Amino acid sequence: MMGKGKAIVAGVSLILVVGVVVGVVAGISRSGKSTNDASGNIDNNLSTGMKAVKTICEPTDYKDVCMRTLGTVANNGTANPKDFIKVAVSSTMDVVKTAMEKATTLSKNIDNSTQKNALADCNELLQYAVDDLQESISMVGDNELKTVNERVADLTNWLSAVVAYQQTCLDGISHPELKSAMENGGIINATELTSNALAIVTEIANILSAFNIPIDINPKSRRLLEEETTALDGEGFPTWFSAADRKLLAARGGAQMRPNAVVAKDGSGQYKTITAALNAYPKNNKGRYVIYVKAGIYDEYITVTKDQANVFMYGDGPRKSIVTGNKSNKGGFGTFKTASFSAIGKGFIARGMGFRNTAGPEGHQAVALRVQSDFAAFYNCRMDGYQDTLYVQTYRQFYRNCVVSGTVDFIFGDSTTVMQNCLIIARKPMDNQQNTVTAHGRAIKRETTGLVIQNSRIVPEQKLFPVRFKIPTFLGRPWKEYARTVIMESTLGDFIQPAGWMPWDTTGFAQSTCYYAEYANRGPGARTNRRVRWKGVHVITDRREAAQFTAGPFLSGHLWLRATGAPFLLGFKR
Ligand SMILES: *[C@@H]1O[C@H](CO)[C@@H](O)[C@H](O)[C@H]1NC(C)=O
Ligand SMILES: *[C@@H]1O[C@H](CO)[C@@H](O)[C@H](O)[C@H]1NC(C)=O
Ligand SMILES: *[C@@H]1O[C@H](CO)[C@@H](O)[C@H](O)[C@H]1NC(C)=O
Ligand SMILES: *[C@@H]1O[C@H](CO)[C@@H](O)[C@H](O)[C@H]1NC(C)=O
Ligand SMILES: *[C@@H]1O[C@H](CO)[C@@H](O)[C@H](O)[C@H]1NC(C)=O
Repeated sequence: MMGKGKAIVAGVSLILVVGVVVGVVAGISRSGKSTNDASGNIDNNLSTGMKAVKTICEPTDYKDVCMRTLGTVANNGTANPKDFIKVAVSSTMDVVKTAMEKATTLSKNIDNSTQKNALADCNELLQYAVDDLQESISMVGDNELKTVNERVADLTNWLSAVVAYQQTCLDGISHPELKSAMENGGIINATELTSNALAIVTEIANILSAFNIPIDINPKSRRLLEEETTALDGEGFPTWFSAADRKLLAARGGAQMRPNAVVAKDGSGQYKTITAALNAYPKNNKGRYVIYVKAGIYDEYITVTKDQANVFMYGDGPRKSIVTGNKSNKGGFGTFKTASFSAIGKGFIARGMGFRNTAGPEGHQAVALRVQSDFAAFYNCRMDGYQDTLYVQTYRQFYRNCVVSGTVDFIFGDSTTVMQNCLIIARKPMDNQQNTVTAHGRAIKRETTGLVIQNSRIVPEQKLFPVRFKIPTFLGRPWKEYARTVIMESTLGDFIQPAGWMPWDTTGFAQSTCYYAEYANRGPGARTNRRVRWKGVHVITDRREAAQFTAGPFLSGHLWLRATGAPFLLGFKR
């Protein structure tokens, strides 16, 4: 996505891009006799419109559905090409809303509280999906100066999250009939439509760079864009950062920060709980809201809500300022409701903080930290738990110099995440359990999500050490069909099973569709000659191939990592 096409299409709005592509494909289908213009108006010839729709739908996985949804626009002589993407996204939104209504209706006729809770979770999750779809539609119509690559990265990021929310809704329902009622009540259709929307956005970008399409853009906006690009290249701050924020965040180390709120358990701050400090988040806040959490164990369930954007929380250190909880699946909570700390509002950053779930291995799924915050970063933090410690749920996330401990699937989710220079500690699980460091949840191949672990160490805790060959530890297992995990430049202890990756079940689920790769790892556990021979398992030897998973290209890191104040690598060290 970042190749030579970038320079050519830089600065062109997605709207224009779609126009050109439709023009081009319409032209191609008419054997070059086209009079298409770059402003992208489809002419009034109905069959030409349908041909364009057919071409756009060609790469999708559900072509009939695509033809039906986009067909309504093709037959409209006055439709502007941007309507194609809008319709692809808004028809998805309609179906997600149908599914929400279904959850509400089903809930009314059920007494069982476990099932009621699962449906309430569905409503919450699907609302996040609706929000993302709404944001996608707004973005297609806006005039903000963003490069095509940025827009495509944003759209595919949000649409991937829409898939993840649909999946998480279904995963939370254990009752089979209820689950199929939700599947048929809209979730299956919604997933197909989301997949199509992802395909359309991705393929349009691909077509553009393949054709090397030169595009005339408004010279005024070109100049503005160049200025913006220089600012980004020079400092690496996202455009929504104010000058004051830039200064604040350029200063590394908590000492230089002036917090908006100070939390101290002993009463020496403004607030005694982190929740109280978050409740004081100013309405319509612009820029950062900085919370200093003094040393102490904070036994509270905390959510940084959707409207609390750009919260920066720093503590006295990951072993001093600690958030703790003990909710678990065994204790009656859906996995995604077990988290001691949940970060939802976008741009959340934490530094020098600890997050715990103390339910123990007996609690089964018990999340310490759940992150569904876009552009989230954690620096010098600690996440301790057993099963499901760190839920990297959705969007773009970055972890640096963190310690993560756990047993089963202890880093899991469907986000796009890069972890650098982390210490990953496998703990002793229950006797009948096996450890898996990761369980990535990419459900469809169009999602741009994946989990990358770079320059980190994977080690056993002391309690596991004596039994580390008896209780097996694997690098991961595929939670969903297209699970994607890359481990590179890391040190793997001798306790990592020679097979490397563990099957999800006995049916061979996801073994040919997942993408599991290792590159330039070290240590006794890094030998790959006895790895499982699944089609989805790879050993990368080509540095350029591995480079696509570094923070620059994989996470659009050049756009936002600088602003987190954490050290980071956009590519490889040397
Ligand atoms: C559409 O284009 C075709 C071929 O260029 C032409 O034969 C046909 O009459 C056109 N239809 C309309 C409705 O303009
Ligand atoms: C055709 O497109 C225009 C502009 O997008 C819209 O206002 C109009 O409602 C559409 N007509 C139909 C029949 O869909
Ligand atoms: C409630 O539903 C759950 C999940 O289907 C089931 O395991 C449980 O037994 C049900 N409880 C009662 C009281 O029926
Ligand atoms: C799902 O889509 C099919 C056709 O593609 C349609 O018949 C069905 O009514 C849709 N279901 C829902 C709940 O929208
Ligand atoms: C969970 O934490 C709460 C609050 O600290 C405590 O009252 C409770 O005893 C804990 N439960 C278990 C099983 O440890």
